[in-house]
Amino acid sequence: MDEGYVDMHLHYLPGVDDGVREASQGIALCQGLRRLGFTKTVATPHIRTAMFENRRSTLRPAFEAFETAARDAEDMPELDLAAEHFCDDVFWRLFQEGETVAYPGGHAALIEFPEAIIPLGVEQRFFEMRVQGVAPVLAHPERYRPIFAKSDALQPLLDAGLMLQLDLMSLVGRYGRRPRRAAERLLAEDAYFLACSDSHRPDDVPVVATALDRLFDLAGSEYAQRLLGDNPRRVLSGEVDL
Ligand SMILES: [Fe+2]
Repeated sequence: MDEGYVDMHLHYLPGVDDGVREASQGIALCQGLRRLGFTKTVATPHIRTAMFENRRSTLRPAFEAFETAARDAEDMPELDLAAEHFCDDVFWRLFQEGETVAYPGGHAALIEFPEAIIPLGVEQRFFEMRVQGVAPVLAHPERYRPIFAKSDALQPLLDAGLMLQLDLMSLVGRYGRRPRRAAERLLAEDAYFLACSDSHRPDDVPVVATALDRLFDLAGSEYAQRLLGDNPRRVLSGEVDL
């Protein structure tokens, strides 16, 4: 397989969420990640009620404007668009209406939970998504409180077909000691399917660089390469068992 990494979670679209403010910062972020080995970066702006009221109809033009702004920039990765959906009733409604901003190819969608609780009955919803051919991908499980001490709460969700996505910066303590330890434990359990930067600004690039070194130390190069390159490509091409 192609050896470049694919970043399936970051916030380089300017002015749509808590990511970069200006196109120039988005370009600098993408160029920085390209230097670290990411040959493709999929923007995942937040869709979260009362905070970031984004929809496909507004994100697509914002993405196209960024592509235009970045047209002459050198050493850019390939760009694409998805979204990070907050897991609430609005998300389920969008899903039923075919209005989620799924990963390119439409085979998977990125979801985040609230920090303190795992939403009740979510495994049934994930099962429904799988039945409809869209695999759920959970952003940064290591940052949710019910997962800090043990992984048990994830098991019913994994049984329903959920894929876990590591936030690389968790490995270097970006979110504190407990998420760092949870990330190390989930890695040791072989629980992750993807590893991504969740970067929000160009200043995150050196942190991601350190985190990549840490990932290779902890996971070994074969597992790390799978999380960063092979598995993201499988998600994009739909080669994930449904
Ligand atoms: Fe994010």
